[in-house]
Amino acid sequence: MGYKELYDGWKQDPEGFWMQAAEAIDWVEKPSKALFDDNAPLYEWFKDAQVNTCYNAVDRHVEAGNGARTAIIYDSPITDTKHRISYAELQTRVASLAGALRAKGVEKGDRVIIYMPMVPEALEAMLACSRLGAIHSVVFGGFAAHELAVRIDDATPKAIIAASCGLEPGRVVHYKPLLDGAIEQAAHKPDFTVILQREQEVAALIPDRDFDWHGFQAGVEPAECVPVTGDHPAYILYTSGTTGAPKGVVRPTAGHLVALNWTMKNIYNVDPGDVFWAASDVGWVVGHSYICYGPLIHGNTTIVFEGKPIGTPDAGTFWRVIEEHKVKTFFTAPTAFRAVKREDPKGEYLKKYDLSGLNAIYLAGERADPDTIEWTQALTGKPVYDHWWQTETGYTIAGNPAGIEALPVKIGSPTVPMPGYDIHILDEAGHELPAGELGAIAVRLPLPPGTLPTLWNAEDRFRKSYLNTFPGYYETGDAGMIDADGYVWIMARTDDVINVAGHRLSTGGMEEVLASHPDVAECAVIGVSDALKGQAPVGFVCLNKGVDRPEAEVVKEIVKRVRDQIGPVAAFKLAVVVDRLPKTRSGKILRGIMVKIADGAEYKMPATIDDPAILDEIKVALQSIGLAK
Ligand code: COA
Ligand code: AMP
Repeated sequence: MGYKELYDGWKQDPEGFWMQAAEAIDWVEKPSKALFDDNAPLYEWFKDAQVNTCYNAVDRHVEAGNGARTAIIYDSPITDTKHRISYAELQTRVASLAGALRAKGVEKGDRVIIYMPMVPEALEAMLACSRLGAIHSVVFGGFAAHELAVRIDDATPKAIIAASCGLEPGRVVHYKPLLDGAIEQAAHKPDFTVILQREQEVAALIPDRDFDWHGFQAGVEPAECVPVTGDHPAYILYTSGTTGAPKGVVRPTAGHLVALNWTMKNIYNVDPGDVFWAASDVGWVVGHSYICYGPLIHGNTTIVFEGKPIGTPDAGTFWRVIEEHKVKTFFTAPTAFRAVKREDPKGEYLKKYDLSGLNAIYLAGERADPDTIEWTQALTGKPVYDHWWQTETGYTIAGNPAGIEALPVKIGSPTVPMPGYDIHILDEAGHELPAGELGAIAVRLPLPPGTLPTLWNAEDRFRKSYLNTFPGYYETGDAGMIDADGYVWIMARTDDVINVAGHRLSTGGMEEVLASHPDVAECAVIGVSDALKGQAPVGFVCLNKGVDRPEAEVVKEIVKRVRDQIGPVAAFKLAVVVDRLPKTRSGKILRGIMVKIADGAEYKMPATIDDPAILDEIKVALQSIGLAK
């Protein structure tokens, strides 16, 4: 069967399509049907099933006789460590950790926050939660205490599992003080924390609140897998929206299992036992779906890589890992290849390694620029597949279904809609646009299994953010088009979300931090083009009347504020002081035009602009920080 037959088959009989995909999952009680639409436009999938995620990701492989197969390869060029964990070992470790959590009171439905670096224990913590039916929420290590506190207050976890430290090249990230600070800031207090002490930094534990990862497992009864209903939240993953308050994307258990398992063969073209590597971080959706759950559910070997594309120790690290661990499918963000390309444009490092076992490279997380795709393809001789998805969906909306039929690549397009996604391009009034015309990208409801049914504790925000603009559709927040061949093209976000080194960030959230500075009267943050990171944030601030301090001092303070409050991951390093901001006559800041000026792109003077002369002032300000050339 080719792509077209598959896609058309899904469209004609979505229920049959998903019930068939569901056969690959081991259910405690099978679902009676796939779609539950009685509460439309809110939908659930496989709601009446009973199932356990950890059982499907771990135990069933052991029971099928594959316990000796490697589940996780840990490769940390930062600590110079490598080791393998078999499915059988993983089962023992996860059951023990789950047992210890249960002994301290964690039960089905309780939330557990996980704040950990790229070590196998991060996956074990996720799986231990799913074993109990507890709902985990992993917080990326590059977020600062304040962001962690916001998530603690929203998710109200019973426990927090963290490591003593993370390791960035040349820098130890002191997790424990960040964790302590976050718990202090948050109104909600967890009952207890579990700390994985790393040898690089042993953290001080607070008696009766903080427990040592190993110590608290001593003598506990291992936990069995607890069945949950199909609609039970498997996890909450916070992602950036328009404001500083992150959106808690809810992942439903059964749809997640069915959909991820389906993608492993059909999109990534791997069979059980093959080595699959997503070089991302467990703190992001790519890490959830394709470092942890997808490969394990499907019986693959996954790699937990604690390193960077360059500098750990060099630009050959990716190639070394691919050769050494016999990686068949490799997935990363375009920015990672841009970093490698900048360091090793001729691929001298690549020549040292044998990539014959590698089938294909997949890119996602941000727009894949043609230069990067062409360079990667030419150098490796492997197909490079761009694919488009979001935290909200958890897997590919548009991609190249290489496991079914590898479609011709059009560089710059993530290829075609996957079964489950009926993509439409709409104008502002919600009218369908013809092929080749640019508009808002929307997906006709229902979204497929595994996608977000709602936002945690925020159904109104869910409806407002995704459902209300185009009734009957999910609003993706991306703009783009579909060409005459049915290929999808993603051009830009329609909201205040920017993408920095594949990390999704909210300019609105950064503006909230800037605005909280006592000398700042008004501000704007925009995302400008960046050769390495895709986009980089730039702040503009107008100071309060009477503030008579060197501008550089204020700039330094606001840069520090963003780092302290949001975290280093915001990569907020550039800001300027201006007298005023360009606005429409109704007072809306013209951020889009400011981006164009910064990028040196053409722009049309908006008819509604209040005072066109301000644009020249913005240009001069941008030139003072090396932009708008
Ligand atoms: N914990 C703590 N700090 C972290 C962190 C983590 N897990 N991840 C990143 N940071 C810090 C970095 O150390 C850096 O701090 P600095 O300002 O002190 O240098 C800052 O956050 C910005 O990090 P990043 O944007 O990643 O830039 P970088 O210069 O360190 O590295 C790349 C650039 C391109 C090599 C890097 O971004 C990369 O590997 N990207 C891959 C993207 C990716 O995996 N995306 C996931 C979605 S698929
Ligand atoms: P995240 O939720 O962090 O995965 O970010 C999702 C957003 O990243 C999307 O809405 C897009 O704006 C962008 N994105 C992800 N993948 C791609 C891609 N392949 N091409 C263009 N943009 C992408």
